[in-house]
Amino acid sequence: MPRGWCVGFSSSSSSCSSSSRAFSTTRTTILGRKFFPRASAAKSNSFLLAAKKTRTAAFAAAKKRSALSGIKTNNSSSFHSEKVVSTEEEDKEEKEETKGGRDWTEKMVKSENFEKGKARAFEAYSRNNESGGSILTLKTGELNLEEHVRPKWSRDRETENVPSTSRALLSIAPMMEYTHNHFRYLCRLLSKRVWLWTEMEVDMTLKHVPAELRNKYVDFTLNQHPLVMQLGGSDADALGFSASLAKPHGYDEINLNCGCPSEKVAGKGCFGATLMRDPDLVAECCAAMAKNADGIPISVKCRIGVDGNDSYDELYRFVETIASKSPVRRFHVHCRKALLNGISPSQNRSIPPLRHEWVYALARDFPECEFFLNGSVKTLEEVKTQLRCQPTDKATANTIKGVMIGRQAHADPWGLLSRADVELFGESENPCKSRRDLLAKYAKYCDATQGKNGTMKDGSPVPAPRHFMHSIQNIFAGCTNAKIWKRLVDDQLQGARKKEPDLTVTKIMERTLGCIPDEVLDAPPGYTNFGSDMPAGEYVPIGEGLSEDEKEWTSEVPVVGRNFLARKDLDRIHS
Ligand SMILES: Cc1cc2nc3c(=O)[nH]c(=O)nc-3n(C[C@H](O)[C@H](O)[C@H](O)COP(=O)(O)O)c2cc1C
Repeated sequence: MPRGWCVGFSSSSSSCSSSSRAFSTTRTTILGRKFFPRASAAKSNSFLLAAKKTRTAAFAAAKKRSALSGIKTNNSSSFHSEKVVSTEEEDKEEKEETKGGRDWTEKMVKSENFEKGKARAFEAYSRNNESGGSILTLKTGELNLEEHVRPKWSRDRETENVPSTSRALLSIAPMMEYTHNHFRYLCRLLSKRVWLWTEMEVDMTLKHVPAELRNKYVDFTLNQHPLVMQLGGSDADALGFSASLAKPHGYDEINLNCGCPSEKVAGKGCFGATLMRDPDLVAECCAAMAKNADGIPISVKCRIGVDGNDSYDELYRFVETIASKSPVRRFHVHCRKALLNGISPSQNRSIPPLRHEWVYALARDFPECEFFLNGSVKTLEEVKTQLRCQPTDKATANTIKGVMIGRQAHADPWGLLSRADVELFGESENPCKSRRDLLAKYAKYCDATQGKNGTMKDGSPVPAPRHFMHSIQNIFAGCTNAKIWKRLVDDQLQGARKKEPDLTVTKIMERTLGCIPDEVLDAPPGYTNFGSDMPAGEYVPIGEGLSEDEKEWTSEVPVVGRNFLARKDLDRIHS
C-alpha cells in the first residue's frame, strides 16, 4: 500500500490501518475520554469495528495497568474518568452497539435530512452546471461576514502581547499516515508560517531503498517550507546517511524520534521511546546526523519518560547528556511518559498523565536549549497561553519557544489553522478567505497531482481522489450538514471505484458541496458554525482557552534533583 494513503470516510474505510482507525475514533468506553466530541462518523460501522478492537485492547491493557504504579492514583483529568467494565458487559455492549451502529447508518442514509442535503447538493450542481459556473468560485462581495457580530474580547485578543521571536511558534506534529504530502499542502494553504513535519522515515529504509525510489520518501512540494524531516532509528551510520539526504531536498530541520511507543518500533528495543533509556546512544546518533547534515539543525522529539524511568531528574539527565555530547539544542517534548508494557500507541496518547509543567522546568534549567511543548493542545488560544507561561522564578525565566499540535490539526484543520497567521504570527492577513477559497485551491492541487505516481493494477490513479479527500474529511468539523457532506463524498468515492475512473476532487466538490450552506462555505477564518443548534447565520469564535484542570499545571514546576552537574560544570562541558 502506498505510504500514508488511507481514507477514513465512514464505512468505506475498511482498508485503514489500525492507527488511523484509532485516530478517528470518537469515544472509548473504557477510557471515557472524548478527543473528537463532534466527529460525525462516530457511529458508523467502521467506527464500531474500530471501537471494538480499541475496547478489547483497552480492556486487556486495563488489567495490566492496575499493576502500574503512579498511574492509577493520578488524578489527571485524562485518567480519573476511567471506567473498567467486564468482558461480558463489553461483548453485550458491543453487540448492541454494532446493531445500533448499522441501524444508525441506514437511518442516516434514509433520513429526511440526508435526502434534503442530497437534493440540495444535486440542485446546486445542476444550477452551476447550467450556468457554466462552479461552486468553488469565490463569490466575493456577496457576503460580508467580516462585519458579522464579533465580540470585543475576541478582537482584543489579537493585540495581546504574544512572544514573536521564535520562528516555530506553532508546529503540526508528525503523524504516520496523516502528515503526508497532501495534508501538508493543505496546512500550508491555511498558514504560511506554521512549521510542518513529515511522517517518520525509518533510517534503514532510506539507506537500503534503491536510489531511484528514494525520492518517493523524501520529496515534497516547494510550498511546504519550513519543513522538518523526522527520522526513526538507532543506528548512527544509517541515521547519518539519512540525514545527508536532507540538505539536497531542502529540509529546515532534522529530527530524531525518541517518543514512539509502538510495539513495532519500540517493543523490540529498536528505537522510538525506548531510546530515552539510553541517552548516550541518542547523543551518538544525533552527533552522526549533525556531521552529515551540512548545517541543518538536529532536534530530538521525546516523551517525558518511559515506564518506570519517569522522574523529572531522569528527564533532566536525558536532556543534559544529549546537549553536552551532541550539537542538539532543540527538543520537542510530548508531555506524557510512554508506557511500553502493553497499551496501544493511541492509549499512550491519552492514559499517561499530561505534565506540561515539566517542559517549563526544562526551559528554565537549560537556557541554552530550545523547548517545544506538545500534548493535547487544541486551540490557538491555548497556544498563546502556553507561550506566555513563565516558570515560577521569573528572575531566571526562559520560556518554551513553541507549541506543537497533532491530532487537532486533522480533527479540525480550518478551526485551528485558518487564522493562525494573523492571530499568532502577526501577519497582516490569513492566506484563505473562506473554506470555499481553501477548497478551490486545494482541489486545483489535487487535480494537478492525481495519477502522478502511475496507476494501480485495477487502473485507478495513484494518488487518487480518496487519497486527497482524507486530509479534508474534517474541514466542516462542527458545521451544519458536515455528516451529510461526508456521506455524499463517500458515495462519490465508492461509485468511482466501479464506474468513474476519471473522477477528480473538483468534480466531487461540485457534486457535494451544495449541501453545505453558503454561510459556512464563505465564513471567514475564526468563525465556526455549530450546526442546527445555533440560529442560522450566527457564528461563535472558536476556542475558549484552558479548562480549570489544565490551568493547574502552572503552579507545579518541578525543581532539579540532586546529583546533577552544577550549571558551571555544564557550561564547562559545552565550552
Ligand atoms: C496517528 C498518529 C501518528 C503519529 N505518528 C508519529 C510519528 O510518526 N512520529 C512522532 O514523533 N509522533 C507521532 N505521533 C505523535 C504526535 O506527533 C504527537 O506527539 C501526539 O499526537 C500528541 O500530540 P497531540 O495531543 O497534539 O495529538 C503520532 C500521533 C498520531 C495520532
